[in-house]
Amino acid sequence: MEIRPVPQLGVLVSGRGSNLAAIAAAIDDGRLRAAVAVVVSNHAEAPALQFARERGIPARLVAREDYSTAAEFDDAVVEALRAHSVKLVCLAGFMRRLGVRFCDAFPNAILNIHPSLLPAFPGLDAQRQALDHGVKVAGATVHFVVPALDAGPIVAQESVPVVDGDTVESLSARILAVEHRLFPAAIGRVLAGGWHIDGRRVIFGGDSGSVG
Ligand code: GRF
Repeated sequence: MEIRPVPQLGVLVSGRGSNLAAIAAAIDDGRLRAAVAVVVSNHAEAPALQFARERGIPARLVAREDYSTAAEFDDAVVEALRAHSVKLVCLAGFMRRLGVRFCDAFPNAILNIHPSLLPAFPGLDAQRQALDHGVKVAGATVHFVVPALDAGPIVAQESVPVVDGDTVESLSARILAVEHRLFPAAIGRVLAGGWHIDGRRVIFGGDSGSVG
């Protein structure tokens, strides 16, 4: 019987780390067949780094200020991921843009979670943008990462209602609960293979496509 290696994830973080924790929980309870090989943060103070250390997950700080150019910073992150044989990169609240070289280093193998129904409300403060616009439906999107901000092919989306009286906090919490289910599930689907990208569309159920 063929023994398939456990896919190694690299998780990039900048802050709180609740999506990292959700990925780790999905792995622990058998919903996601993968391992978090390394967590890379660009912020020393990120609680997500602390979470990784407490869990015994290799944790690396790669701070932009330690590199003279953005390209050198990107290369350092790639190096950290390669050192842990990462197959799929997951941006879980990673608050820096990654350049072309980074994207080229992991073709169709970088996922991001964003707290809006893209292409609506890319960039910062997506939940505030949604409230300010007055939409009645918000949500979360998992997409492949391309150099353009929040613009890559969409892997999974789920909506939540916006209700009267919502604040940024209440809407963010409703979206975050969805994120914590959606991201591990999307990672599992991408790792399972059998998909391809046709233009902007990620088509599941084909026979091509897998990462690594
Ligand atoms: C999430 O809302 C995610 O969609 C966005 O940044 C936030 C990260 O939260 N990209 P956490 O650090 O995973 O708790």
